[in-house]
Amino acid sequence: MTYTLTAGTRTVPCEPGQTVLDAFLRSGQWMPNSCNQGTCGTCKIRIHSGEVDHRNSPEQTLTPDERAAGYALACQTTPCSDAVLNTPAGQDTTGTHTLRDLAATVIEVRDIAAETRRVLLTADEPLEFSAGQYVELTVPGTSVRRRYSLANPPSEPKLLELHVRRQPGGIASDWIFGSIEVGERVEITGPYGDFTFDAESAGPMALLGGGTGLAPLKGIVRHALVLNPDREVLLYHGVRTCADVYDADFFRELEARHPGFRYVTCVSRETGGDREGYVTDAFVEDVSSAKEFTGYICGSDAFVEASVKSFKRRRMSPRRIRRERFTAG
Ligand code: FES
Repeated sequence: MTYTLTAGTRTVPCEPGQTVLDAFLRSGQWMPNSCNQGTCGTCKIRIHSGEVDHRNSPEQTLTPDERAAGYALACQTTPCSDAVLNTPAGQDTTGTHTLRDLAATVIEVRDIAAETRRVLLTADEPLEFSAGQYVELTVPGTSVRRRYSLANPPSEPKLLELHVRRQPGGIASDWIFGSIEVGERVEITGPYGDFTFDAESAGPMALLGGGTGLAPLKGIVRHALVLNPDREVLLYHGVRTCADVYDADFFRELEARHPGFRYVTCVSRETGGDREGYVTDAFVEDVSSAKEFTGYICGSDAFVEASVKSFKRRRMSPRRIRRERFTAG
């Protein structure tokens, strides 16, 4: 039996056990989403009619009152009947890259900074995605899936670049820093996420990344500079120690080719880098007004909060600030 889910003018099929979000994205229909883990609340929808199973929707993200009022988390909820639901205004006709399952092969694993590895995969088929999105990778031999942002631009749809920081005790991390081998086959699902390049914006851009939060920003910077090689793009990479800096040669070379691009490393716990201290302070020192800017932030919760504040301090419009929060792998 296949259920049907209707949101406005869109109707998609949904198998029992399939989440509402998965059903929409696999039909190429947009639905807001970020973590796909029930923790961010981005995918909150309202069920108008029909029965659903909220499964493990956490109370911190979906309160009992919200449940009682008909709200649900699309990334956790599965239908038990046909259903009609509401998504946020403006989402009704938006298309998206279709969510897919793909096989890929590990073609390179390299240490690029302290406790940090770059994993290059080549997918069996091209993956259409927007710069900044992420994929979920299934750890071979397990059902454990972990999310990794794509550091490559959409113009490279088969060569997928992931940046991975070691997480002690993490199943995916133990594999990537342990038994992973070139030639190994892996399964990925994607693309996910609404942390994407803003194709409507044409003005200057500022990007703040903490640690491996650099990954999606690298994809966005590369994509933006291909579209407009002269665009003003400021990239700040925040790390704790000099040993955490990576891809500096890549970005210096990009600076040499694009006069509007500036790359700044900020080291917070020792002397070194382009600047000592936090990216948020460096940004505020360098930019007197960010009114015309579009901002992108990727890092830990604390990093994202502090970065949003520094953007607002320089009068960046909140609707122009895009952000992505890390989850441990
Ligand atoms: Fe569903 Fe984050 S709670 S995408």
